[in-house]
Amino acid sequence: MIAQSKIQQVQEMVADLTKEEIIWLSGYLSGLAGAETKLLPTEGVSAAAPTPVALPKITITYGTETGNAKKLATSFAAKAKKNGIQSKLVSLDQYKPADLQKEEWFFTVISTQGEGEPPAAAKKFFDYVYQNNVSLSKLKYGVLALGDTSYPLFCKAGEDVDEQLLKLGAKRIVPLQKLDTDYEEEAEQWITQLLNALTSSASQAVPSATSSCKESREKSIHRYLFKQM
Ligand SMILES: Cc1cc2nc3c(=O)[nH]c(=O)nc-3n(C[C@H](O)[C@H](O)[C@H](O)COP(=O)(O)O)c2cc1C
Repeated sequence: MIAQSKIQQVQEMVADLTKEEIIWLSGYLSGLAGAETKLLPTEGVSAAAPTPVALPKITITYGTETGNAKKLATSFAAKAKKNGIQSKLVSLDQYKPADLQKEEWFFTVISTQGEGEPPAAAKKFFDYVYQNNVSLSKLKYGVLALGDTSYPLFCKAGEDVDEQLLKLGAKRIVPLQKLDTDYEEEAEQWITQLLNALTSSASQAVPSATSSCKESREKSIHRYLFKQM
C-alpha cells in the first residue's frame, strides 16, 4: 500500500519530533485524509489545510499542609508540559475562586487535615464553593485526594470538594482518586491516564485497542471528552 522507501522517509522525518509535534502532525494528516481530493493543496501546505484541535490549557491547584500535595501537583504540571499541555500551577490560597467560572480545565490535589478538614490553605476556596451558588457548567475538573487510611475520615476534604464542584454543575471528567500514604504509584497512574486522554482527545486519535484495567479509566475519560468537545 505504501512503498518501503516512503515509509523510511516518514520515519526519518518524525525521528526528532517532540510528542506535541507528532500529535499536531497526526491531526493534520487525518484532516488531509478526510478532506475532498479537490481541496487538497497542490503545492506545499496551503491555508486550506485542516487545523488540528489545540491541546487544552489546564489549571492545577493544590491544598497542602506538609508539602505532599504541592509535590504531586508540581510533578503533574511537569508531566503535562512534557505532553505539550500548558498548565497554571497555583496554591489554593493564592487562587481566586471566582476564576472557577472562567476556567475550562481545573484539577486540584488536596490533602485532608484535622478530623476530615481541608488544609488551612484551602479554607478560602472551600468557603467560596460552599457559600456561593455559582454555576460552574463550563468547568471540567478532577480531584486527587491525599490522606491516610488510619484516620476515620479518609480523604474527606478531597471527597467534599469533588462532590461540591459536581453540585455546582461542573463536569467531573476523571473519577476522584483517594490516595493513602504510599501514594506515588497510584498518583502517577491517575496523572498519566488523564494526560493521555487529554492529548489523544485533542488529536482526535482512536484510543488503543489493548485492554487492561489500567487503561479502562483512560478510555472512560476519553469517551467523556469526546462527548463533551
Ligand atoms: C494532624 C493531621 C491530621 C490528619 N487528618 C487526616 C484525616 O482526617 N483524614 C485523612 O485521610 N488523612 C489525614 N491526615 C493525613 C494527611 O492527609 C496525609 O499525611 C497527607 O499526605 C498530607 O498531605 P500534605 O503534605 O499535602 O498536607 C492527617 C495528617 C495530619 C498530620
